[in-house]
Parts: sequence; C-alpha cells; structure tokens
Amino acid sequence: MHILGISCYYHDAAAAILRDGQLLAAAEEERFSRVKHDFAFPANAIKFCLEEAGITGRDLDYVVFFEKPFRKLDRILASVLQTYPQSWKVFRESMIGWILDKLWVASTLQAELGISREKIFFSDHHLSHAASAFLCSPFEDAAILTVDGVGEWLTAACGVGHNTDIKLTKHLEFPHSLGLLYSAFTAFLGFEVNEGEYKVMGMAPYGTPRYVDKVWKLVQQNPDGSFSLDMDYFCFHYSTDRMFNRRFVNLFGDPRPANMPFFTESTGYPRYLGGKPSDYIAQCRVNEHYADIAASIQRVTEDLLVGMAKGLQKETGLKKLCMAGGVGLNSVANTRILRESGFDELFIQPAAGDSGGALGAALWAYHSVLGNPRKFRMDHAYWGQEFGGDEIKAFLTGQNIAHYQAKSTDEMLDRVAGYLVNAKVVGWFQGRFEWGPRALGARSILADPRNPAMKDIVNAKIKFREPYRPFAPSVAAECATKYFALDGAAQQYPLRYMLYVTPVNDAHRNDLPAVTHVDGTARVQTVYREQSPLYYGLIERFGQATGVPVVLNTSFNLRGEPIVTTPANAFSTFSRSEMDCLVLGNFLIEKQT
Ligand SMILES: [Fe+2]
Repeated sequence: MHILGISCYYHDAAAAILRDGQLLAAAEEERFSRVKHDFAFPANAIKFCLEEAGITGRDLDYVVFFEKPFRKLDRILASVLQTYPQSWKVFRESMIGWILDKLWVASTLQAELGISREKIFFSDHHLSHAASAFLCSPFEDAAILTVDGVGEWLTAACGVGHNTDIKLTKHLEFPHSLGLLYSAFTAFLGFEVNEGEYKVMGMAPYGTPRYVDKVWKLVQQNPDGSFSLDMDYFCFHYSTDRMFNRRFVNLFGDPRPANMPFFTESTGYPRYLGGKPSDYIAQCRVNEHYADIAASIQRVTEDLLVGMAKGLQKETGLKKLCMAGGVGLNSVANTRILRESGFDELFIQPAAGDSGGALGAALWAYHSVLGNPRKFRMDHAYWGQEFGGDEIKAFLTGQNIAHYQAKSTDEMLDRVAGYLVNAKVVGWFQGRFEWGPRALGARSILADPRNPAMKDIVNAKIKFREPYRPFAPSVAAECATKYFALDGAAQQYPLRYMLYVTPVNDAHRNDLPAVTHVDGTARVQTVYREQSPLYYGLIERFGQATGVPVVLNTSFNLRGEPIVTTPANAFSTFSRSEMDCLVLGNFLIEKQT
C-alpha cells in the first residue's frame, strides 16, 4: 500500500511517501525549486517521491493533506471580523490566496495525480505534527506536545499517544501563539519572519536576559502550562506586514534596522565587512542592547515551553515526550525541556516544522485511520534524492570540470580527512539529502573545529554570514560524552538531528574553539556508523589523525539559498565561494589557485 503525504500553501511545502508503513522518501519542495521556504504545491517533491517508489500517481492508494483548508478559512474569517476594519487588507490578500489555491486542494490533487476523490484524506494541522513525531518514534506510549505559529485554529496542542492512537486533549488557539510571539521579536530584531528565528536564537548568547520582566508583560502562563498573549502589543492578527505595534515599541524601544550588521566586542568585527568603523564601540553597544532583547525572548520562550512540558508530564505521568511544530527546532529549549520538565526521553524528528506535516499526515492515515500496526522508526534523516557515481561523472565530464576519482571509498575518506587536517574548507556531498532544515552530513560544509580562526574563515570565505550563525560539531557518537556535557542524554534522538545545545566540557574547550558558542555551548550532532557510514568514517579518520573525532559542520548553501540538492547545485555553490575542495561521492575537485 502506497500513501503520499503532502504539506503546502503555508510555510515549507513537502511530500513524503510510505510503502506499507515504511517511509521510502521525503523531501521539501525548496530543494528542487530552489526557492527558499517554497510553500507552493510541491509538484517536484511529489514527482521525486513517486519515482523513489517506482509508481505513478494513479498507483497511490491514498493521498493525505496535512490540514483542513476550510477550518483554516474559518479561523481567518473569524479573526478578520473581530478586528475589522484594520484587518481589511489581510482579509483581501488572504481571500485571493484561498480562492486561488487552498479551497481547491482536493481538485488540485485529483488533477495533478490522476486519482479519485475517495482516495484523498485530510488530517488536522496539529494532528499531523503530533503523528510526525509519535508515529515514527521508538515509543509505544508517550506524551505529545506540538507548538508552532498557527495551524488551522490551534497554536499548540498536547495529549498522549498509545500504539497507533493519538489523542490531543488540550489546545491553545490563535492568536495566543508562542511561535508568533517569537516571530514578533524576530521581526523587531530586523530579521525575516519564518526565516530569521534561528538568528534570534544565535544572537541570544551574546546578550543578557535583562528584559525578561518586560517580555512577561506580553504573555501570561497558567499553572497547567497554557498561556495567553496580551494582544494590545501585537498586530499580526490584523496586519499582513507588521507583527507588533506602537505599544510594543514603547516597551522595547526602536526596532533594529533590517540591514544592520551584527557584531559585539565578543564576536569582534567580521572581516568580510572591511575596515573597522570609527564608532565601532558605540555600534557594539547598540548590538548588545538588541542581543539582550534576543536573550530575553529566548529565555521566556524556554520558560513557557518548560512550563507546558511540566504541566503535561504532571497530567499524564508519562516519562517519554514527542515534540513537533516549528518551536521544536529551538534546540536550546529542547535541552531545557529534557533537563527540567520531568520527562526522561524526548523524541523530535528532523523536519519538526510544517514540512514534517506531510510525513505526519501519511503516518496518521496508515496507522490511526487504517489501523495498521507500527513498524517504522526514524533513525536518520537521509530520505532525499541520491546521485550515483555515473550521474556525478556525467555531470563533471559534461561540464569539463577537472576532478580526481578516488579508487575506493577508503581512499576518498583518507583524502578528505587530509584536506580537513590541512585547514581546507570542504563541500561534502554524499548519498541522499537530509529531510528537514539541518545539514547532517549529506550536504554539509566541513572544516577543522580545532582551528580558532575557522569560524571566521568559513563565515568570510564561504557563507558571508553573520557571526552568530552557529557552526555545529558532528561527533562520533561513542565519543560524545567525552567532549560535551550530556547528563545521560547522549543516546537521545534530538542529538542525532542537531536539536540539542549543551556545554562543551571544560577539559576540551580548547580542542573545539570553532564550534563552541560564546557562552561555552555547542549544538551537537551525534553521528552513528550504522546510519551514516561515510560521514562516520570521515570523522573517525579525522579523529585518528588529530586525536579529536569531531568535525565542524554547517549547511551546504550560500546565504539566502536552499541547501544544495544536485551535483550542479553543489558545484555552483563551490564556484561562487572560496571553498577549497568539493567532494561529490568519490569524486574530488580542488579549487585552482
Ligand atoms: Fe505548524
């Protein structure tokens, strides 16, 4: 039985396909369309999924859409009516979108896939999130918490999963949303909403949470973990282009200008900005003020999430928790939930945001609707497209690109470990690309984490990105506790997916300067030989050569672009940057100097 799950028309569009409950393929549309956060109908991702399954749309048994379009329309109409006439513009723009796309989801699916209406199911937004975590977790019973911007009406939901059954018993409704609260600060700090949230998280350690009391003026939490926003400070419920209003500005001061470069005395002045300005110290102070605001919203977000998880733990008495929704990508909050909420185990799958709804919708239909037993567990993130040696070779020879073909995988790994030891920055392209927003060793840029200058080198030469962009350590799993303070969390799933932040052990801080954040923490990825044999092999060799089985990993893309998908994308990124080497399967390309 083949089931295709689809999410689109809101944030990140994606498709995922199951065969008899086993995931075959899953991918975000942006990887193919090259439009970052593409939310359009995921025609390319669907085509890829069908090809992986070796079937056509007509062969599908069911197609499941990740939410109910009419319920979302109901939410928009209701909130528009409450805030009319300010909301007229948002209403008009939403209606154009609804009439063009969303209400016709079923007809679009029928037309695109050649299937009949009876084969189409609609899940609920938060149910899709919940299913995307619980139904591919290793847990038979678990509490479930989903938190995001806004789904249909709901902004958070919690409940329990038992075997194939999911019961979401408590909900929070729009406009009371942790995701939208965080996004309001994302906008205030000069970043794009739905894109810059990780930058706020990255900025936070450079500041002191001195405005926590002010942030708590915007939100109140109840003893059971639920919360409400004071809507007098926001306008996202009636505006298409503004998240916060004048009262918010009166509380926090002027917003940070959108194009203002970020640096503080602890980051130093980024080399790619050129010469230091004469008012460098004054500019540092201004940025520190905004970093304090970032630290404050990050702290309150963590406190709210810990409060929600604590409430859920108390109510259910369960010790295992599955989380999903965009807020599940807040790695610092995940760490605190695991440490403080009373749960012993936490499962998050790598596409925790809306793209993951495609997977969740398909799993929900197979297990919860059709009653099939569970057998799939997500142990890795490599569900995207793969390119074989012949395809890579055809690309390189077709484009006349000078390369060396290693005679074996071992030779390739030896050479790449040698590049890293010799301070080269390497574009690493191997196997199927990752599901979700993190590069986890299939489409990554790699470097030596022991070199204190490497962070700046990668930022300046490769990414042209801001100093708060986190560079993560990928560590051979069995060595993780040696380098990082994991308090028994080493085996936990969020670490596989780079969704956990923890201090670097004092004894090894000098070994890992390029992946240690200003506050002494790192966003760790544990790498297992069974799931990632090539990436593990490389880290192992680097460890043999240097004594440190850890590499610096950052996503293989340039600023503002989706992570690379094809050999052509990878080569283009390599050519437009100052990356030293590119590794495509067993093919090695060194930049001519
Ligand atoms: Fe969502």
